[in-house]
Amino acid sequence: MSNGIIERLEDVTPTVVRAMSAADNPRLRAVMEAFVRHIHAFACEVKLTEAEYDLGIDFLNRIGQATNDSHNEGILFADAIGFSTLVCLLNNGNGGATETAAALLGPFWRANSPRTENGASIVRSPTPGPELFVACEIVDTAGKPLADVEVDVWQSSPVGLYENQDETQADMNLRGKFTTDANGQFSFRSVKPAGYPVPTDGPVGDMLRAQHRHPYRPAHIHFLGFKPGHKTLVTQIFVDDDEHLHTDVVFGVTRALVGDYRRHDHGEPLAAGVRAPWYTLNHRLVMENGEAILPKPPIK
Ligand code: BEZ
Ligand code: FE
Repeated sequence: MSNGIIERLEDVTPTVVRAMSAADNPRLRAVMEAFVRHIHAFACEVKLTEAEYDLGIDFLNRIGQATNDSHNEGILFADAIGFSTLVCLLNNGNGGATETAAALLGPFWRANSPRTENGASIVRSPTPGPELFVACEIVDTAGKPLADVEVDVWQSSPVGLYENQDETQADMNLRGKFTTDANGQFSFRSVKPAGYPVPTDGPVGDMLRAQHRHPYRPAHIHFLGFKPGHKTLVTQIFVDDDEHLHTDVVFGVTRALVGDYRRHDHGEPLAAGVRAPWYTLNHRLVMENGEAILPKPPIK
C-alpha cells in the first residue's frame, strides 16, 4: 500500500478509496468506494485515451449546460443508456425478482397538476385527435383496492408534444391530479397520445446519432400514484400498436405496462358528441408496500 505518493498505476484506486474512507455516512462511503473502483476499472478495461477522457468530460459538462427549468438532459442521458430502467427494476418488484408496475419517471413530470374530478377531461385547450376514455384501478400487492391514492397523470398530445414543449397548448393541458374512489378506481377523458422523439439538440442527441439509434418513444400515458404507507408508484402505460413499442429509445417498456388501447369504430360512444374512432384503456396498477416519497420534479 502506498503512503499517498502514487508509485505505479495499481496504487491509484486504493489510494483514492482510502482518502474517502473517513466519510461519516456509511452509505456514502460504500457507494463512493464502489463508484471509484468501477470507474477506474472501466478506464483500464477500455484503455481510455486522453482524447476520450476529454470528450467524456466535455460530454458531462454539456449535459449540465443543457439542463434548465424546462429541460433535464441529465435524466435524458440516464434514460437513454438504460440506467433509469435498471435502477427502477432494482428498487421495485422485489429487486427485479417479480413483475412490477413501476417505470422510469422521464423528464416531463410537473408538480401541481390541476385537481380533476373522476370522469372529467384533461383536455384544457383544443387538442385535435381520437378521443380516449381511461379507467384504471389501483390495488395493493394482495389485490385489495386502494382508495384515496392521489394520481398525477401526464401525456403528450396526438402530435407527440407535451404542453411545456408546445406553445399552442394551454398550461397544464393533458395533465391532471385524480383521487381513487372507494373501489380504488379513477377515470378521465383525454385524447390518444402519440409517440415522440426525445429532444436531440443536446449531447444525448449526438450520442444517439453516433450509435445510429432512432430517438422515438412509443406512445404512452404517465401515472404517479401517491398514498402514505405505500411506495410511490411512478409508471407509464404504453399504446400496444405503436411502431416503436419494441425499440423504445429509453428502454422503458416492460410486459406489464403494455396497455389495451382498444379502438371503437361502431356502437354507442361513452359520451355525447364523440366521433368514431374512439379508444378506451382499462388498466390495473399494483402499488407495493414501502415509503411514500415524491421524486423531485425534473422541470418546473
Ligand atoms: C417521457 O416519457 O416523458 C420521457 C422519458 C425519457 C426521456 C424523454 C421523455
Ligand atoms: Fe413521456
